[in-house]
Amino acid sequence: GDVAVLVPAAGAGVRLGPGGPKALRLLGGEPLLVHAVRRLAAATSVHTVVVAAPAADVIAVRELLAPVAPVTVVPGGAERQASVAAALAAVPVGPEIVLVHDAARALTPPELVESVAAAVRSGHDAVIPVLPVVDTVKEVGAGERVLGTVDRSALRAVQTPQGFRRSVLSTAHAAATDPLTDDAGLVEKLGVPVVCVPGSEYALKITRPFDLALAEHLLTVGG
Ligand code: CTP
Ligand code: MG
Repeated sequence: GDVAVLVPAAGAGVRLGPGGPKALRLLGGEPLLVHAVRRLAAATSVHTVVVAAPAADVIAVRELLAPVAPVTVVPGGAERQASVAAALAAVPVGPEIVLVHDAARALTPPELVESVAAAVRSGHDAVIPVLPVVDTVKEVGAGERVLGTVDRSALRAVQTPQGFRRSVLSTAHAAATDPLTDDAGLVEKLGVPVVCVPGSEYALKITRPFDLALAEHLLTVGG
């Protein structure tokens, strides 16, 4: 394998409601992070996995993941971007392709990991998995008044894993000023082209209780 995967898993999970850090919340009796790391490790290109865990849970997460796959666990930061930067700093010399993958996308199929890695390997500096936007999207101003309707055909909903040539991701993080919600956004600011590949509905981000219920169902029917 020529790929390192960084797994930001240090978030609180506020939108999921009370119950502890989201990556450690249970899905089918196992933490979301275990599901995510097991699927990453099943992708044959993956050589190294570095998890950014909540600082208070680093040792517990090491013990949790030891039977799942060989992983490095580091303390995350206050923002997702800081967690990714902490994980990136722990990647050993070797892998020249680096993927960044949310622990919250626990049911992401190994095939999607391989397809993003393959697109980077084929020569793209930055690759993101996307889905078409299905809802009509409107821009709204003060007082919830509609300002206009956005052309949906030009929009994409963005998932992870996002894949990068290692040097490009390092440069993007070193140049970062304001925190963004994804890594491709930092690369865009460098003016480096970012290309899209087809995402997967199974790579949904478990954000709200509805998403966790959906993931439980998908797991039951063989997700
Ligand atoms: N994440 C992280 N470090 C942070 C914040 C987020 O590593 N300081 C990770 C989360 O653990 C998650 C991924 O980034 O795997 C995507 O973030 P999100 O879905 O927003 O998770 P949370 O921040 O935990 O959820 P919320 O925003 O509802 O609190
Ligand atoms: Mg968050």
